[in-house]
Amino acid sequence: MSFTFDIDYNDKSSDARAGRLHTPRGVIHTPIFMPVGTVATVKGIHMSELEEVIHAEIILANTYHLYLRPGLEVIDKAGGIHSFNSWKKPVLTDSGGFQVYSLGKNRKITEKGVEFRSHIDGSKHLFTPESVVDIQRTIGADIIMAFDECTPYPCPKDYARDSMHMTHRWLDRCFDQFSKTDTDSAVQQCLAPIVQGSVYADLRAQSAAYIASKEAPINAIGGLSVGEPDEDMYAMVELINGILPASKPRYLMGVGTPANLLENIALGIDMFDCVLPSRNARHGMLYTHEGIINIKNEKWKKDFSPIDARSNADTSRRHSKAYLRHLFLSKELLGAQIATLQNLTFYLQLVRAAREKIKQGVFDTWKEKAITQYSQRL
Ligand code: GUN
Repeated sequence: MSFTFDIDYNDKSSDARAGRLHTPRGVIHTPIFMPVGTVATVKGIHMSELEEVIHAEIILANTYHLYLRPGLEVIDKAGGIHSFNSWKKPVLTDSGGFQVYSLGKNRKITEKGVEFRSHIDGSKHLFTPESVVDIQRTIGADIIMAFDECTPYPCPKDYARDSMHMTHRWLDRCFDQFSKTDTDSAVQQCLAPIVQGSVYADLRAQSAAYIASKEAPINAIGGLSVGEPDEDMYAMVELINGILPASKPRYLMGVGTPANLLENIALGIDMFDCVLPSRNARHGMLYTHEGIINIKNEKWKKDFSPIDARSNADTSRRHSKAYLRHLFLSKELLGAQIATLQNLTFYLQLVRAAREKIKQGVFDTWKEKAITQYSQRL
């Protein structure tokens, strides 16, 4: 039986838990962070580094980007995303709901679906709940996401309500298409529904109840970390987690900072993805066990201490801050690579530490210290 979830430990002083999500391509230990590999690559990182340095257990890719380039014909001919990019562990594809939201003016949302223009060549396309399920079937991701509308922040309540109802109708269509396209021969996939409702408690409660009624193996929360205050995000997550079943993994989409991860783990979230660690790395912003560093800062010019002495990444222990700063100022590719390795290794070490602390029964006190330490800017 695939996509079963075992909870190994429950924290006594919070809703944090440590579990294992079983998938046809391996076990995912939760809480987990999923590095973002939009176009079937985590920018600047080899698969062997993902496996052996970062210890990623699952990566994310994007329906929207892969559909436009290289296109489904190529991925189908390759035999699916795992054969194409040689990443043999689980992959989750986002449905395009968020990318389409990011396109701004270049899209039109109707009951039928979303018409949009490609960011690559301006060509016109239509995504529907049915086509997005078909595309993700072809890509061959293990966990595929329902097609939803991610509402912006702030969002008028009437808009949020109408949008949430449409996301629910789209969800029914996604599940219909998903069951119609189920085949015995293929590796089993799982469809995850997404709670919406902006920052309105009554809408979030309604949406969470609707999503829970689908009895999916994984439930996701979307529409957060779009500019609302952190306190609003935590309030929504707490409310939703009281409604989604505790026995299934909960995935908070697009979140967040190290502090966001730890606070949401305390509220019972099991899975995260975010571009923050990889994107910030490319801009020279490093998450380390000492705190946050802007490596381009003059301050590090003659600092020959390791980038992060407590990092699992040998490059972070071997190379100094001064050397990495030099690589950045010289616009050397290696700079972005070392920085990305640092940040993703830090994020995976962080969720593994959270798991360990939950196991030891000391998560809550550790969390406070970790947030203070890892949020300070050096
Ligand atoms: N990624 C971050 N937020 C969202 C969301 O609300 N929907 C989808 N599909 N992806 C997301």
